[in-house]
Amino acid sequence: MKKIRVAIDGPAGAGKSSVSRLTAERLGYSYIDTGAIYRALAFFMGDTAVEEHDKIRELLKNFEVSFRISDGVNHVFLNGNDITAEIRTENISRKASSISAIPFVREALFEMQRKYAETGGVVMEGRDIGTVIMPDAELKIFLTASPEKRAKRRMLELEAKGQKVDFDELVKEIKERDFRDSNRAVSPLKQADDAVLVDNSGINLEQTVDVIVKYAEERGAE
Ligand code: DC
Repeated sequence: MKKIRVAIDGPAGAGKSSVSRLTAERLGYSYIDTGAIYRALAFFMGDTAVEEHDKIRELLKNFEVSFRISDGVNHVFLNGNDITAEIRTENISRKASSISAIPFVREALFEMQRKYAETGGVVMEGRDIGTVIMPDAELKIFLTASPEKRAKRRMLELEAKGQKVDFDELVKEIKERDFRDSNRAVSPLKQADDAVLVDNSGINLEQTVDVIVKYAEERGAE
């Protein structure tokens, strides 16, 4: 049985996490959310500012992230503690985006991510998976949707949690984050030359997963 590596990259809010988790489930593969690793580090920093590089270097010495899926939720553990809910705030989103532009942070997290890819049979999602982390993945997907569509989905998600949000503000935040992620000097978000572009503005979650599983099967996944 062939276990391929699937890299799923794309901007914030394109539905990467749900799509990747369900694709992994359908293929019987493991699922690695690399954004959660950056978020876990942002959380671990507490009050440490993004500019305090020496302190961040110190923190990285005792930084371990693991994942476990239960009840359809991908639980994220920082040094053994479940931080799944804590890393999904707007504050952590901003901080994760800022620290992800620091070269030594990317280098430190690079090795961690490469280890997850070693065995194959993995769906890994992020911003630089097809370009940097798994450049030889059998299948690379660049998943995107319009900023408005992504903001709408995020709004529904937050409203379901009882949070009131401003749609225009969300669109603005998404565009700002896209800009930061696409224009940083190290590992900017960009589609790999050999990635398949999937725009899911007009299709739902299941249909998106169907499209990706079909590509995976064409690339030999069993
Ligand atoms: O996918 P996410 O929103 O959880 O990611 C959080 C931040 O981490 C995002 O702003 C970009 C960054 N990131 C990255 O630079 N490289 C990755 N492979 C994954 C995430």
